[in-house]
Order: sequence, then C-alpha cells, then structure tokens
Amino acid sequence: MEIKFAARTDLMQASEIREAYKLSAIPGLIAFSGGAPDPTTFPVEELKKSAVRVFDQYGPLAIQYFMTEGSPELREWIVEHMKKTRNINVPVEEVAIIDGGQQGLDFTSKIFINEGDILLCENPTYQGALNAFKAYNPTFMGVETDDDGVVPEALREVLSKNDVRMIYVNPDFQNPTGRRWTLERRQAFMDVIKDFDVVVLEDDPYGDLAYDGSLMPPLKSYDEKGQIIYLSSFSKIVAPGLRVAWVSASPEILEKYIFAKQAADLQASTLCQMIIADFLKNNSLDDHLKLVRKVYERKGGVMIDAIRREFPDSVKVNTPKGGLFLWGEMPQGVDTLEVLRKCAENKVAFINGRAFFPESGHDNCFRLSFSAAPEDQIPEGIRRMAEVIKTFV
Ligand SMILES: Cc1ncc(COP(=O)(O)O)c(C=O)c1O
Repeated sequence: MEIKFAARTDLMQASEIREAYKLSAIPGLIAFSGGAPDPTTFPVEELKKSAVRVFDQYGPLAIQYFMTEGSPELREWIVEHMKKTRNINVPVEEVAIIDGGQQGLDFTSKIFINEGDILLCENPTYQGALNAFKAYNPTFMGVETDDDGVVPEALREVLSKNDVRMIYVNPDFQNPTGRRWTLERRQAFMDVIKDFDVVVLEDDPYGDLAYDGSLMPPLKSYDEKGQIIYLSSFSKIVAPGLRVAWVSASPEILEKYIFAKQAADLQASTLCQMIIADFLKNNSLDDHLKLVRKVYERKGGVMIDAIRREFPDSVKVNTPKGGLFLWGEMPQGVDTLEVLRKCAENKVAFINGRAFFPESGHDNCFRLSFSAAPEDQIPEGIRRMAEVIKTFV
C-alpha cells in the first residue's frame, strides 16, 4: 500500500541536530551535544516522598482526569513565584499548565502562524523551536543579536519593512549561546515592539540558573499592551521527565492555548502536576536552586578551563554567567559539521552551529553543553575535540 502522508510531515523532518544525536549513541563517546539537565541535580528522594504523599492525600483523584488549565494549587504557586522572582504580576486566570515548554512552542505556532507568515527569531535561536515552528510552514527571518541581546535598531528595521506575525526570543541564558540580555536591551526591545502589532513569545526555561542567583525582569514584566506570551518550565529547575511547564498570557490569548490543550491531549498529567505542587509546598525551591546552580557553575568552569588549555587561540568560546551552554566560533571557512563528523570518530560530540539559525550560514559556529556529561569526563572530551580541531585550523 502507498502511504499518503500529509504534506506537513515533510516540513517536520528533523534538522542537522539529528546527526549530532545519532553520533552521540556511539559507545564510549563523550557527549557535549544534548541539552538534557544533569540527572544528579534531580531531587529524587524529595519527589519520591511527594509521590507517596499525593497518593495518600488524593487516592484515585491523583490519577483521575483534571481541569485543562491545570492544578489550581500549582498555578497559584506559579503566580507567586513570578511575582516574587520576575516582577510579573498576573492573576491565576492568566496561567495555564502545559506539557513542557516544547508544547508551548507548538501551540503558539498553531495559534498564530498561517502558512507563509513571517516569524522572527534571534540569530541564532533554539533549534527545537525552529523544529516546532517548521510544521506550520512560516517564513523564517532572523534578527541580529550580539552579546547584550537583540540589536534594537536591527529589530526596528525588520519590523518596519516586514509584516512580522510573531517574534520568538529566549532572553535569559539562551539556548544555544548562553547569553543573557542586558536590562537596557530589554527596555529597548519593548520600546520598539510597542510600536507594532506583533506578539512575542518569550521562552524562559533558564532564568533561574544564573550562577550568582541574580534575576533579570523578563520582557513580560514590562508588557503594557498584552503583547508578550511568557513560557517557562520545571524541566531545568526540578526535572524534565515530569513534563510540567506553564504559559502566561492575556485572557484573550490564553483562551486559545486552553482550546489547543483540550484538542491536543485534554490536560497535563494530574499526577505529575500534583507531585510538583507537593514538592514546592514541602521544600524550598530557593535552596534546591542553590545546589543546581553550583553544579552548573562548576561544570561550566571545568569546561572553560579545559578549553583554555587545549583549544587553539583562533577558536573563540564565550563564558556565560548561567545556564547550560557555551557558544563558540571557529575561523571563517571551517565547517563545524565536518569537524563534528571527525570528532565523533574520536568519540566526542557537540552540535554544529547551522542547526540554530533560521536562515542558512554560520557554518563555523558550534554549541557545547556541559550539563549531561559527567564532570570527570569533561576535560578528556575537550582534549579529544582539540585533537580534531587542530587538524582544521
Ligand atoms: C529554550 C528552550 N525552550 C524550550 C525547551 C523545552 O523544554 P521543556 O519542554 O522540557 O520544558 C528547551 C529544552 O531544552 C529549551 O532549551
């Protein structure tokens, strides 16, 4: 039988990153490719206790259907958390639980993007977002960024010349660059977008992971026109396998997410939401985050020290102050996909830069993640990478 797939499935074909992940399966390979959190940061014992308490307290209701918007208790906690740590003041009716920030990326494109609409992303941007958006066949455009964030003049120019439907940004310890926008750039971004009828999806899974515990106000905290849709997740601050995240938007917009959620899977897991809510009630997230930040600060430091020792000077790598990623550039003309293939033969993997750009190019860039690889393997992995890089530069 000839199987007739929807045309959309062609658009859903995975990108370069698949290749990096395929290579990561080689036995003995040290993977700086995946962005999974370090499993040693997961509060396993505390979550185990929460699971038992939830079943004791709620019995069968812990595994019954639940409301589409999500657990009221959890949403109340999120409202307080956003108020306390992000200066975002919204009522509980403006928060809904979803299954991971990734689902929020899918829903957002479903809600806002008609085929061919212009979707503006940072250059570079999270490749998982590009994959989610691709299925809706937008026209991708990239906007110039530097170490401080989106360049406001470039943003104004793109918005003035094009009918941009939606902007996707990740201002805090961005995947893939690890950059955090400055306060001035956040204000400048808001000053520009308020002159245009455009919605902005602000993706914030890493804001809590500043190594010094400092916090920046998200774009959402400046939002006066209801333009910002704020997305955050428990994946990087508690554990990703529970698949609990949230979206906050004006009531008019949030209603569409709730319809999308209902149509997609009715609700997020009752049990997982209750476990997270119980964990947050009986433990201090602040104390937990102190431990998590320490792990990433230390592992990032180990990687940077090894890079300084091993990599040729012509390879530039940044030093982020939070998050899970380092961003690097090899000299112009070096194709990091070729470097990656050779590195895989030498049993180390990273992700080549092309995967993170909405438009093509930037073949000399690369992302290194220090979250998933065990700390004691990081120096050896960097040594193996350096061996290969020296044959290219
Ligand atoms: C920027 C960004 N957004 C969203 C996600 C998806 O995370 P989750 O679906 O686990 O919340 C990730 C995962 O790495 C990410 O880096």
